[in-house]
Amino acid sequence: MSIEKIELIDGIKKFRQEVQTSFHMPGHKNKPNILKEIGENLHDYDITETIGTDNLHFPTGMIKNTLESIGKSYGAKKSYIVVNGTSCGVISSIMACTSPGDFILVQRDCHKSVYNAVILGGLKVEYLYPEFNREHGLNFSVSLEKLEQMLIDYPKIKLVVLTYPTFYGVCFDIKKAAEIVHKYGKILMIDEAHGSHLNFCSKLPPAAERSGADIVAQSTHKTLPAMTQSSILHVCSDRVDTEKVSRMLRMLQTTSPSYILMASTQRAVEYMDKYGEERLCKNIEMFRTKTKELRELGVNVLTDDFLKENGSHAFDETRAVISLNDVGINGKELEIILREKYKIQMEMSDLMYTVGYITAADEPEDIARLFDSVKEIYLDAKNENKGSSRVFIEEFPRLTQEISMKNAFYSESELVLADDSFGRISADFIIPYPPGIPLICPGEIIKEETIEYAKSILANGINVNGIDANNMLRVVK
Ligand SMILES: Cc1ncc(COP(=O)(O)O)c(C=O)c1O
Repeated sequence: MSIEKIELIDGIKKFRQEVQTSFHMPGHKNKPNILKEIGENLHDYDITETIGTDNLHFPTGMIKNTLESIGKSYGAKKSYIVVNGTSCGVISSIMACTSPGDFILVQRDCHKSVYNAVILGGLKVEYLYPEFNREHGLNFSVSLEKLEQMLIDYPKIKLVVLTYPTFYGVCFDIKKAAEIVHKYGKILMIDEAHGSHLNFCSKLPPAAERSGADIVAQSTHKTLPAMTQSSILHVCSDRVDTEKVSRMLRMLQTTSPSYILMASTQRAVEYMDKYGEERLCKNIEMFRTKTKELRELGVNVLTDDFLKENGSHAFDETRAVISLNDVGINGKELEIILREKYKIQMEMSDLMYTVGYITAADEPEDIARLFDSVKEIYLDAKNENKGSSRVFIEEFPRLTQEISMKNAFYSESELVLADDSFGRISADFIIPYPPGIPLICPGEIIKEETIEYAKSILANGINVNGIDANNMLRVVK
């Protein structure tokens, strides 16, 4: 089969022709209305620090004023625009709240940026493992009892890093979590990459920045109508030294921040202030109607009621999380059918679920189109009677940390075949991408089960960073 060689610009044009409805990032969904003024005048907006503009690293004028408005909108003590994505927001937050050698407690199914902060900041890490639900192949809300126990067992922990909501829209009781963390005198950092929109809709779980979190990193570009890489960092309490946050951001961000991204962040927040409640409420109404219909039909689609009945705390009803495994279609296959047959592009898929973002830029008809298409695919597959392709999703691997992440990362290393790596110390991350949650971290002893699981993910067409095309991975020599 000949592979078409296509470069960026033609590739983007082709993609645009192939995708009609988008449930992936960026949150503006390529609809020209919200960012119209910026989009139509890109040349004019692409400016830099000069006379009469401002400096993101030391804002005194137009950027400072915008940051103050954003902070007001989110109820934060101080807000920062981050143009290097939430990866940079997360790393800056963690490094601002710690010093090398400090212990942090991390939700084990967190994004790789948290682990990168551990390496860069020379930190020591303890894990809070997620509550894996085997029947549904999904991590439910973290246990707050276990969180408290960890803080009792490991008094040296300085900072707690939790993901709220998860990629799958699962939320824990954020207010209670903050109370627990503060009871033991620790700092709570929330990776709210998937939750910039919670602040703007009363039907959704509460926003972390208004619920006791001390510092919050958000991917504005994921769930708000802002351009890719636009992110915001909020400091919400006096437990965090804002001067140290500013210094970390100055160290880790580009010295040439894009005014296009910053302007799109301003516009996205203004739009949500004006229209977020109304538009998200309308979309949630449609989400509820359609997911109820699908659940009554027997389709496994996540809903707030379903998660609560199964012991989770709450669900973000702007997240479409669908599994047709019961009728023989795995998550990746569903993503491909939606794209090829219906011109709908979802955000990501794993072996079980296909996940899509619904934002204020979507119309209720877009949501109806998604779920009606899923219904048709489900009914067709049921008629074909292929049976269940239920895959065995693994509980999060518990590996032994033999040497520190930083030492392993910087150690002398070599490439070995994945099948020859059992018992060796990993020198790199093994990460299914998306969602970007590491299965194996540097310094951990590689287990056969984890490699078998990674191979089953690869076999289903899902990327696994850290295992190359020749099935090799990097271990400590
Ligand atoms: C939970 C979580 N945190 C952080 C990030 C990083 O966000 P960004 O892509 O804006 O750097 C992601 C990206 O997918 C994520 O899922």
